[in-house]
Formats: sequence, C-alpha cells, structure tokens
Amino acid sequence: MVKLVAGNWKMHGTSADLGEVRAIAAFAAKYEGAVDVALCLPATLIHRAAEAVPGFTVGAQDMHANEEGAHTGDLAAAMLHDAGAQIVIVGHSERRDAHREADADVRAKAEAGLRAGLKVILCVGESLEVREAGRAEETVAAQVDASLPQGPVDPARFSVAYEPIWAIGTGRVAECGDIEEMHAAIRARLVAAYGEAGAGVRILYGGSVKASNAAEIFATPEVGGALVGGASLTAADFLPIVEAGA
Ligand code: G3P
Repeated sequence: MVKLVAGNWKMHGTSADLGEVRAIAAFAAKYEGAVDVALCLPATLIHRAAEAVPGFTVGAQDMHANEEGAHTGDLAAAMLHDAGAQIVIVGHSERRDAHREADADVRAKAEAGLRAGLKVILCVGESLEVREAGRAEETVAAQVDASLPQGPVDPARFSVAYEPIWAIGTGRVAECGDIEEMHAAIRARLVAAYGEAGAGVRILYGGSVKASNAAEIFATPEVGGALVGGASLTAADFLPIVEAGA
C-alpha cells in the first residue's frame, strides 16, 4: 500500500511560504508512485499554492457540510475544489473541540467532501484522560463508527487519521505498540462498515511525527501514512518524513 504523507499547516502560512510549498512539491514529484504527498493549507493560501505547483496535491483543513447558504465565514467543498483543493481534513480534534463538532457533523462533512470530488482525511483520537482510564480503543472505535461516511467509499479517496489528542503538538509520540493496537481496531471498524474496500482504506498516524520517528512509525503494521503538523511547515523538516514513507 503506497503511504499517504499529508501535512497540516494549521493556522500557519502566507504567500511568503510558497517557496516551501514549491520545494515540497518538487521533492514529492521525485517519489511519485512510491509515496502520496499532500499539504493541507490555510484556505487563504490554497488557490495561490495550487497555481504555483500544478499537479501537486494541496488541500484544506475543514469545510462546511452544506453546498451553499447563510453560513458566514464558512467554505463549502465545491468552493474549496474550485480554488484548487484536491483533499480536505475533517473532524480534526482541534475543530471538534473548539467548534463543538459532533460525530454526525464530521460524517456530514466527509460525505459532502467526497460528493464534491475531494479526497477526505477523517480524524479520530482520544484524550489523555480517556487513554489513562484504559478506554482509548472503545472510545475511538465508537468515534469511527459514528463519523464514517455512509455508503461505499473508494480507498484511493478516503483515509482515516488516528491522532491521539495528547500527542498533538506535544513532542510525545504514541508508542508503536499502541499505534498498532489502535490501527487494528480502526481497521476492524472500516471492514465492518465497508467490507473489502474497508481493508484498503489508509489509516494515517498523527501526533508529533518527526524525521527522527517516522521510519519506525511507518514500519508499524496498519500504518498507511502520517498526518504531520509542525514538522510539515518547512521542506527541511517535512521531506525526511516523506522520504521515510517512500
Ligand atoms: O493534523 C496533524 C496534527 O494534529 C499533528 O500535529 O504538530 O503533533 O505533528 P503535530
């Protein structure tokens, strides 16, 4: 399975950073077919980036589930696609938390994104409190079941990212044994939901992925790639992770 290594720039990046996008796109082109690479950028940068690096996958970090309407400040999937986005993250813990997004909201976004022709990365993950209480697997499995888009999915266009909340931005990466256990649990839910297609959906790991730990994480069973935050902001930090995934 060709791994997907996606960067999530979060609230970072202006046109002054297009040089980093160009460098990442040029490097990714050398590994075409060996690893899939994408950058999920601030909405304000998507169009410029898509024009700067035609053929490279740029995307968004969220979207509204509706196709249009009185939703001040929001962006529909078709608008993102029109701007040059080819992929979108939905259900990131930072949005589930800050914007009170329920699993049903995330499901609706995933379904709308796929309908609009975007590839979708659906995020799930548990809090430290849940992990320490020994309820991580049951919690994430329930989150997956309630967030997955209904109906058949194309594994080439839909991925799930397991991002333990306590590993995001903390430098505290999950143990590979825990990643393996959780990805196996997520895989079981994907097969239950989609049958054979569920076996082909890539399960990315996210949460303090760095050049120093990427190879070990990618070697872990059921890891189909990574969703990288801080270490995706510069080519210097991100490209060793891409290379480790090739
Ligand atoms: O979506 C990826 C992000 O949540 C992980 O952030 O900085 O821990 O790689 P970071």
